[in-house]
Amino acid sequence: MNLETNEIVELIQEKTNQFISKTAMVLEVESTPLNMGYQAVGLSRHKVLIDDQGIQEYVSFITKMANTTERRILHRLYLQSAKVPFSTAHDIGSEDRALICIQDVDYKTHYQSLEFEMLQKKEVQALAYIHKTNHGLKEELSWLPIADRDHIEKMLYGRWRTVWEEAKKNEQFIEAFGQYIPEVEAVSSSIANDIEVVLNDESTHTLIHNDLNPGNVLVHNNEEVFFIDWEEARYGSLFLDIPLRFELNAARAYREVLLHEQYPAC
Ligand SMILES: Nc1ncnc2c1ncn2[C@@H]1O[C@H](COP(=O)(O)OP(=O)(O)O)[C@@H](O)[C@H]1O
Ligand SMILES: [Mg+2]
Repeated sequence: MNLETNEIVELIQEKTNQFISKTAMVLEVESTPLNMGYQAVGLSRHKVLIDDQGIQEYVSFITKMANTTERRILHRLYLQSAKVPFSTAHDIGSEDRALICIQDVDYKTHYQSLEFEMLQKKEVQALAYIHKTNHGLKEELSWLPIADRDHIEKMLYGRWRTVWEEAKKNEQFIEAFGQYIPEVEAVSSSIANDIEVVLNDESTHTLIHNDLNPGNVLVHNNEEVFFIDWEEARYGSLFLDIPLRFELNAARAYREVLLHEQYPAC
């Protein structure tokens, strides 16, 4: 627990007035650092006591030192009514990381008792909506990094390869996964070639999240699926997002929504 700096308290007061109530006053902020993600740059959760014309309640916010891509994409998608948390729109242009205050998506969610089928449908809808709304907008999104072959090679030989080489020296890893090592090595050496056709197919190009691991897909109020952590977002093939979340039936449902659903229904 930390006593928070003025900058964070001011930001929280501003977001409270913008998104919760114009008349609410922040009385207390109790902050806890979160160190759970891959980057987790300057990430904290803030339990905030507010007073709105005599009625007091607790709300929760997240703050993060977010990169430019994440700040701009969160802002853009929120304006498009996509399933992303609200966040601050300051500093959208600057190239450096900057502090943003984000809606805490799941502090009221009971992960033990969720309706998975309903949530998967919501997720299919939510992702298809984002892909469809931003489909083909190469010019408009020209500031967004591109998910091309160069990007895939950087991920493979920069990020993945270093972790992989470390893992191969670990005895427990070898004991558990040793039999798969040759297969993974073979795939890794051909994957950039194998997916090049898909990567270059402009008819599939849109805004993609590009890091849809389970920690970046959260359930809001037990009934909505929200996508967070847009740090790695790119302009590229929607096929880089789909397999990370959907098996075959869900992927078919996604295609139906993408091709036939009329928006705005989100
Ligand atoms: N807006 C949010 N609402 C609820 N939890 C969040 C939010 N942002 C981050 N978190 C929590 O912190 C974790 C790490 O944050 P994330 O933005 O994904 O950063 P990283 O780049 O470190 O993965 C998330 O997996 C989630 O558990
Ligand atoms: Mg994350």
